[in-house]
Amino acid sequence: MEIVDSISIDNAIQTFTSIMCSLSVTDKNAFLSYIADNWKPEKIKSQHFTGNTLQASPNSTLENKQVNVMKMIANDIKKRIPIDGTFPSEKILPPTIGENSDCDKESTKHVDAFLYDNRELDELIENEKVITIYCADCLSENVRQYNIISHSLSLSSVLYIFHSILPSLEGKCVLDIGSRLGPVLYGAHVFTSAEKIIGVEMNEECCQLQRDIINKYNMNDRIKIVNKRIEECPEIVQTSDVIIVNNPFEFYVSESVHKEIWKFLISNIQSRTILVTKPSIETIFKNLKIDSANKWVKFYKSEKTVDEFEIYGSVALEPVEHEDIKFYEVI
Ligand SMILES: C[S@@+](CC[C@H](N)C(=O)[O-])C[C@H]1O[C@@H](n2cnc3c(N)ncnc32)[C@H](O)[C@@H]1O
Repeated sequence: MEIVDSISIDNAIQTFTSIMCSLSVTDKNAFLSYIADNWKPEKIKSQHFTGNTLQASPNSTLENKQVNVMKMIANDIKKRIPIDGTFPSEKILPPTIGENSDCDKESTKHVDAFLYDNRELDELIENEKVITIYCADCLSENVRQYNIISHSLSLSSVLYIFHSILPSLEGKCVLDIGSRLGPVLYGAHVFTSAEKIIGVEMNEECCQLQRDIINKYNMNDRIKIVNKRIEECPEIVQTSDVIIVNNPFEFYVSESVHKEIWKFLISNIQSRTILVTKPSIETIFKNLKIDSANKWVKFYKSEKTVDEFEIYGSVALEPVEHEDIKFYEVI
């Protein structure tokens, strides 16, 4: 194809966004599959990165720059942990109750969604770096699919929370309970003007990694890492305006401790705090047999208009993909 005139990245993104907005949901998926199959975005992307240095196009928008910072952080972390993305010091306890109780050690693989998005995961599977099926009894063709789980939120989930749903966080304090690799903290720094961003994480190795990242990316001005159990931090819980609870306990503590931690949270989280949870509080409380969900919280209604599809920087944001993230206001 002969290229007659080149257009700026901004114009290209606008044109692409208007094409996406004019398509039905089914056609959108078909169009994106066509692009994924024929235009190998990873080859284009590599032109923008030299080692750790971002070669930003002179036309790149603020959104692109923000997304690129998040992607550079993910690239840095990928160099420090294996593809299965867990530290030896992390003691994973497969849940014994609820929807994830089939996630035992033998049948489950962890691929971190912040480090590897869906497209990268597909590539890992295609290149057999992640094997998705296993033989349940070696002499037969009785193969089974591994459960693939992530202990981190993906970049698009972080964007969905901070860009699509939550209000301006100017002057507010955001707490991430069990901050692990830190995507929620970096996302809160990059995408919001929250005054304080606190990660409470019990694993020292995870805390060291988060400290290294926030030092490297000069995020010390607003992010603080606390290497403690959340139960030891009632003042932080009481003074946070937004609390992110991405399934921190299910794979990390026993059922009885899990229940005790929620009792601690219920008695310390203040009225009007916005809670962002995955899975829903209803699911967590049902599994743990705690029966006060509807007396303690109500659904948080976003003031923002949520588009069915949006491109933020180079990230495609489809709210339908994040329906398992729930927003509440404490009564
Ligand atoms: C599923 S990861 C959450 C990761 C991160 N919030 C995110 O969304 O990407 C759970 C993390 O919570 C930590 N954790 C579990 N129980 C905790 C507790 N009682 N206090 C502090 N951290 C805890 C674990 O060590 C683990 O790193």
